[in-house]
Amino acid sequence: MIRINQVNTFKTILNVISRRRKYQLIILSLLTFLSSFLEVFSIGAIFPFVSVFLDPLIILNNEYVKPILVYLEISKPVEIYFPVTFGFFILTTISYSLKSLLVYLRSKLSRIINFEVSTLIYWKIINESYQFHTNQNSGDSLAGINFSFTIAGSFLIPILKAINSTLILFFAFIGILILNPLIGVSILGFLFVFYFTIGIMTNKILKSISFTQNENYSKIFKLVKESLGAIKMIILNKSQSFYLKNYNRIIRDYLMTISKAEYISQLPKLFFEYIIIILIIVLTFTFKEKENITVIFPLFITFVLAFQKLLPEANILYDSITRLKTKKAIIERVISYLKINQKSPFKQEDKIPPINFKNKIQLKNLNFNYEKDNKLILSDINLSINKGQCLGIVGKTGSGKSTLIDIISGLISPTSGQILVDNVILEPKNIEGWKQKISLVSQNIFLFDSTIEENIAFNPMEKNINYEKLHEVCKIVQLNDFIENQQKGFQSIVGENGVRISGGQIQRIGIARALYNSSEILILDEATSALDEQTESIVMKNIIEYSNNLTLIIIAHRLTTLKYCNKIVKVESKGLIEFDGYKSLIKKIKT
Ligand SMILES: Nc1ncnc2c1ncn2[C@@H]1O[C@H](COP(=O)(O)OP(=O)(O)OP(=O)(O)O)[C@@H](O)[C@H]1O
Ligand SMILES: [Mg+2]
Repeated sequence: MIRINQVNTFKTILNVISRRRKYQLIILSLLTFLSSFLEVFSIGAIFPFVSVFLDPLIILNNEYVKPILVYLEISKPVEIYFPVTFGFFILTTISYSLKSLLVYLRSKLSRIINFEVSTLIYWKIINESYQFHTNQNSGDSLAGINFSFTIAGSFLIPILKAINSTLILFFAFIGILILNPLIGVSILGFLFVFYFTIGIMTNKILKSISFTQNENYSKIFKLVKESLGAIKMIILNKSQSFYLKNYNRIIRDYLMTISKAEYISQLPKLFFEYIIIILIIVLTFTFKEKENITVIFPLFITFVLAFQKLLPEANILYDSITRLKTKKAIIERVISYLKINQKSPFKQEDKIPPINFKNKIQLKNLNFNYEKDNKLILSDINLSINKGQCLGIVGKTGSGKSTLIDIISGLISPTSGQILVDNVILEPKNIEGWKQKISLVSQNIFLFDSTIEENIAFNPMEKNINYEKLHEVCKIVQLNDFIENQQKGFQSIVGENGVRISGGQIQRIGIARALYNSSEILILDEATSALDEQTESIVMKNIIEYSNNLTLIIIAHRLTTLKYCNKIVKVESKGLIEFDGYKSLIKKIKT
């Protein structure tokens, strides 16, 4: 029924939620137990309740009840009707109030746990290494975060409901066993055989539904994300119908599997109801000539009520298990994110140990290959970068320039070899301190759909913008004229990923953002490639003059970009060739 992997999933969730939630879960379990018992008890009480009206003497002469009746001064049958009715009323009221409280708490607690789990998953994903993100489609991460919203509806609530129903069935079974062992065993036996058979029959379908749902959900995210990203190309190529066709297929499969799952979860209920009605008709027919109606009638009512009660519970149990099965792949995916071993956001972060950079960065015997293919991208790299130096990196496209600076900036770690900063080896425990010293303007600059000033002074930790600095960096990157000409100046919106401004403007906002951070090391990866040569030259000169202690690393295809570099390396055949500055590089090329 509830399989081991579900228990493991539950354990993983228990491990990450706060202690308070764990206590609340325990209280909820106790309430579930109590409520299940009371519910069955109040239904079981219908049998004596009806008997009292049919034959009050049964109660009056009952040796267990007699002392109570004496205490209440009841001796006549007429006097017993009210207390019994009132008692029954109270019992039912308590039972259903508790049940309603349970439904409320179950739903609320599940959503709160869901909230904690979801927050944690988001935190884990955005804390993952750069390598993790480059190896994984962002549609997958998006789907993962989206799945995490469903953990209450697809896992916690079904599990809690399944436990509740199992308890009710268990108590009911005991109750019916006491009242009438034969009926008890036959009803329970029948229910069990019926659902067990259906369970086995549908198991395979549910597994495939679970798989398809998970797969298609990711595909939907990827497709929508990619088509919106490529919208210019789609419009020009008129390839909308191609994307529509794909969307159509995936979403159809996805929704059809949901419909299949819904049908499978409803089917046994309908079939069972049909059987019950047939059974009642047959029983009525069989008993029609019997005279001892006072014995038969209450039994009959109990029987019908028991079935009425047991059937929905059995169905809730079945439905919950079906849900758990169809959502299995999705839940496992969420759990895989939870198992990423990082610090929880609820715990206080350790202080990041600072790292000193006064003299030089050294790369020693460094090798690198990306995880999946084993081809070396960089092999036996040795390089020394002095503080305040301007290092240029050239090389053919795809030679590994961006990879090299990703390694230097600590985004990816070398497969072997070392990076030393003032003779201190960079390792996981001090890498965070190192990353803080670096500003990187990469080949793809991401702009927020927000104002120019927020895009430049991007620091979510600091609310106040330093306008003096903002103006200064904009002057350096030659953006001030452009901004002044905008209707809203610094408050102009750049559009999602800068759709409302030009490529060169995007790049200069990227550089301004990096300068605004005043990091000790500035890395520009083809960051001025969209600028005309004259503007580029002014921007470069301004950056060099801006701070003489700034260590600058520039990657460029256009050699004139490297005019101010006092050391240049060329990435070639996985290794580095060093040049003594711009002039030496030009001389080498000319010869
Ligand atoms: N995430 C990745 N996984 C696997 N291989 C990668 C990954 N990123 C880059 N590569 C490969 O590593 C090699 C070096 O890529 P890199 O981006 O460093 O080149 P580059 O010199 O910066 O090129 P360009 O001048 O075109 O920007 C390429 O052959 C590329 O195919
Ligand atoms: Mg590159």
